[in-house]
Amino acid sequence: MFGARCLLRALRSCSSAPCPRHKPSARLSVRDALGARSTNGERVKVQGWIRSVRSQKEVLFLHINDGSSLESLQVVADSSFDSRELAFGSSVEVQGQLVKSPSKKQNVEMKAEKIEIVGNCDTKDSGFVHIHTPIITSNDCEGAGELFQVEPSSKIKVPEENFFNVPAFLTVSGQLHLEVMSGAFTQVFTFGPTFRAENSQSRRHLAEFYMVEAEISFVESLQDLMRVMERLFKTATMTVLSNCPEDVELCHKFIAPGQKDKLEHMLKNNFLMISYTEAVEILKQASQNFTFTPEWGVDLQTEHEKYLVKHCGNIPVFVINYPLALKPFYMRDNEDGPQHTVAAVDLLVPGVGELFGGSLREERYHFLEQRLARLGLTEAYQWYLDLRRFGSVPHGGFGMGFERYLQCILGIDNIKDVIPFPRFTHSCVL
Ligand code: 4AD
Ligand code: MG
Repeated sequence: MFGARCLLRALRSCSSAPCPRHKPSARLSVRDALGARSTNGERVKVQGWIRSVRSQKEVLFLHINDGSSLESLQVVADSSFDSRELAFGSSVEVQGQLVKSPSKKQNVEMKAEKIEIVGNCDTKDSGFVHIHTPIITSNDCEGAGELFQVEPSSKIKVPEENFFNVPAFLTVSGQLHLEVMSGAFTQVFTFGPTFRAENSQSRRHLAEFYMVEAEISFVESLQDLMRVMERLFKTATMTVLSNCPEDVELCHKFIAPGQKDKLEHMLKNNFLMISYTEAVEILKQASQNFTFTPEWGVDLQTEHEKYLVKHCGNIPVFVINYPLALKPFYMRDNEDGPQHTVAAVDLLVPGVGELFGGSLREERYHFLEQRLARLGLTEAYQWYLDLRRFGSVPHGGFGMGFERYLQCILGIDNIKDVIPFPRFTHSCVL
């Protein structure tokens, strides 16, 4: 498959470009190309990353940068060069002539004769831009107070004060930073370590775990989000199954016989959806005795989640519209009652329970303002409230715990067995 892709890439660069016979082009940095004094039509080669693409009816404008200059080199190409792979972030090698630019914005531009994609930028392929959200942060996104504080181990350098002037913590979620960036790029994601100081020794909690998080502007309903969540689960799983079947089979064979069929069952069925209120009703009517009595307004426990998935025929099930009082400040108010809910969504999967947590975000200034005021968070989250003052749009997102995902697809009962160095209460070995 990889070979076919390379072949296609090679074919494209040859077929769409005239390949005149000439001596090898001299390689120039972007800085040198921009500073070229004479533009006597000499052929040169520039390598770098695409910073912008503007496609017009007959011409294509690319801006290429290789880090040698703050300014990018404008490349002008025939529209026949246009392709999906010529996208923001892709690395390219461009051959052509340096010519005097008709525009006042730059002296020199490059007339492309050949454009070769060196590496395409997958993050743009699915329409999601990868954001590196910070690991050290001053916010408690989930508002649950499960934070590890970050300070230098020695107080010698900054006695009495916080190192960052404010209390800082290891992140519990990159969501709030993603919300900022979704205002610029519409669809964004992050994948990185997250930390929770939860006092839990359970089979699905770690103090340090990885999370994939996505944030999408202009989503109007939970259905929009659920579609993306289901697609992410199914495409990721199909990719894992087709790229490394031996590894998956080894796990299934020795640790979880029958898991392959369970996985196929999940992949071929449409995920189900119930409301939190319906979930509580189902649990109340269950013949099973739970350790925690199910009740409206109380969080679902792992035992409840696992029961609900079984009740749904072992097909993953979205549970939506949780009580407002149980969920963080950022979730969108459903303005219902008397049982007041927010537009939250959790995806429950066989063997694990909650795998994804997400919601529509409260994008309405006055709703958010009142919610923050009630929680005494107005000052701390002024910057977040301000996002709702300048071009606020309906948006939402979710996070999926990576280790729980591995548990789910591999059929591994204890989360500590899917990570080489598990961290949890009373244990930080190595
Ligand atoms: O439901 P959570 O807390 O949601 C958030 O953090 C949102 N801010 C995400 C978002 O909307 N961008 O966490 C998301 C997922 C859970 O569903 C679970 O799979 C995983 O992260 N998770 C854990 N995994 C292992 N150990 C823990 N202690 C976990 N806590 C959450
Ligand atoms: Mg959750």
